[in-house]
Amino acid sequence: MTKEKSNSSEISKIAVLTSGGDAPGMNAAIRSVARSAAFHKIACLGINQGYQGLIENKIKQLGPRAVNNIINKGGTILKSARSNEFRTKAGRKKAYENLKKHGIEALVVIGGDGSFTGGLIFQQEFGVPVIGIPGTIDNDIYGTSHTIGYDTALNTVVEAVDKIRDTAISHNRLFFVEVMGRDAGHIALNSGIGAGAEEILIPEEDMGLERLLESLKRSKKSGKLSSIVMVAEGDKIGKNVFELAEYIEDNLPAYEIRVSVLGHMQRGGAPSCFDRVLASRMGLRAVEALRDGISGNMVGISDGNMILTPLEKAIKGKSKIDNELVRVSEIMRL
Ligand code: F6P
Repeated sequence: MTKEKSNSSEISKIAVLTSGGDAPGMNAAIRSVARSAAFHKIACLGINQGYQGLIENKIKQLGPRAVNNIINKGGTILKSARSNEFRTKAGRKKAYENLKKHGIEALVVIGGDGSFTGGLIFQQEFGVPVIGIPGTIDNDIYGTSHTIGYDTALNTVVEAVDKIRDTAISHNRLFFVEVMGRDAGHIALNSGIGAGAEEILIPEEDMGLERLLESLKRSKKSGKLSSIVMVAEGDKIGKNVFELAEYIEDNLPAYEIRVSVLGHMQRGGAPSCFDRVLASRMGLRAVEALRDGISGNMVGISDGNMILTPLEKAIKGKSKIDNELVRVSEIMRL
């Protein structure tokens, strides 16, 4: 943890924004930031549409009553955006001028590593204290065992695959199910184990087409009539899910094959209790860090405790796949 001391120990006004892909639990985090700030007698503003909204001055009061009845809501009441203008110095200057106009002394950024990169550059250029809260379903951020939205997404996937399994069994079919995760296989691996998938393809490991084919042939021979193959978007074999399915269909005609791409449904829906509690804790920790003069860090959770990691490390570090889970998934496919 780096402590970048600033005037923020006497901080009187902060703002919060959500940026990048939305994730269930972001609203719970916004609520927590607004209420934690109110508790510490710090004024809180909400910025609409992420960094783009900061550039366009879409800023409003966010008192404790403005966040009533949102803890259970998916999405983000502040809306989210990926801003190209904020990538430019001129865009960030406009953003800074708007912060000054409103008397905002520090920023809480809820998002993923792209959002933290923007926040860190902003802090370095203009000296605005920034604290990050990891909000993404991908769970691909270093410095926290869980990001906000990940647990909900896992439950969404498991529920969907349970349903797909019903039809797979009824028709003796092999289903390829694509889940999100461009760069990380956390969703595929964990929901794959939870949903009892026979094969799990992730970006971190190259199973190879031939091994996949052989493994499916073996399981068919062993008496399995239907199967689920969970495929992360960015899986290492490098073929898209339809190409994979086609290859297996051509080489394993014993199976009738279907493909299901779960897509953005994984990002929506009411957050799980785990994500609501996580978001509430992270929001409070973020505000208290700023109050204590700490900035340039991301709040995370490790072994049940709130921790802080320098934004630089959170951005550059790689969240690793749990090899024990890979082993579990391999044994469970028997
Ligand atoms: O980063 C979260 C994520 O859901 C990824 O898993 C996915 O690849 C991407 O966002 C999709 O982004 P978009 O909503 O821009 O299509």
